[in-house]
Amino acid sequence: MTASSPMRVTLKLATSLDGRIALANGQSQWITGPEARAEVHRMRADHEAILTGIGTVLADDPRMTARPDGVLSGAQPQRIVLDSQLRLPASADILEGPPVWVFHTGGARSDLENVELFETEADDSGRVSFAAVMTCLADRGMKSVMIEAGGAIAAAALRADCVTRIEWFRAPRLIGGEGRPCIAGLGLEELALAPTFNRISVRACGADLWETYQKG
Ligand SMILES: NC(=O)c1ccc[n+]([C@@H]2O[C@H](COP(=O)([O-])OP(=O)(O)OC[C@H]3O[C@@H](n4cnc5c(N)ncnc54)[C@H](OP(=O)(O)O)[C@@H]3O)[C@@H](O)[C@H]2O)c1
Repeated sequence: MTASSPMRVTLKLATSLDGRIALANGQSQWITGPEARAEVHRMRADHEAILTGIGTVLADDPRMTARPDGVLSGAQPQRIVLDSQLRLPASADILEGPPVWVFHTGGARSDLENVELFETEADDSGRVSFAAVMTCLADRGMKSVMIEAGGAIAAAALRADCVTRIEWFRAPRLIGGEGRPCIAGLGLEELALAPTFNRISVRACGADLWETYQKG
């Protein structure tokens, strides 16, 4: 899967002005304002799937649905969790509603209900291969995926060269270097290899800034 794939893959980021998604102690709700959060729900409704990581599920226990129901014209997007070791708690809120697709690298769980498990190859770090997930989704005819996750999954998506669009909401507040970055390490040794996007719009969204970038 490359940037030339027909799949639309949106990376949504909601950060401080300095690109942080949480304090060092994990506190993250809410960095951006209500207008930005409402836009995120509309964005969810505009994608066939919402993909997150087990880190976000454990930290925030999100439902990852488009709300209120009025923002949807059809079914809720397919919720997807990348969870190499199947650490997903059986009580997680995301397990309410239609079955969640959970990608993992092996093992078994008998207590998880309302999930469809996908055993997937591991990447170099032993985690679910992001490229393999994208291939699986493309094989199933998926045309659009929105990534709403922490820095680890955001970095994995960028490293796999899967992201076609970035929707970035930035609040006018600063968290500082000890805060958690919205994108973990990309392992770059040459600036020329940095993922590069074209900015296509900048808007005010309540007190926040909403920037949209498209892969060139
Ligand atoms: N502001 C925002 O836009 C936003 C959105 C969502 C979350 N967040 C914040 O993000 C923080 C959580 O960040 P996070 O980085 O821990 O969570 P994450 O990116 O959602 O999940 C990371 C976990 O995903 C699993 N994973 C599976 N395949 C992976 C792969 N190929 N590459 C990397 N990880 C893979 C790993 O656990 P295994 O090795 O066990 O599989 C990893 O620890 C929370 O504070 C949350 O509030 C912010």
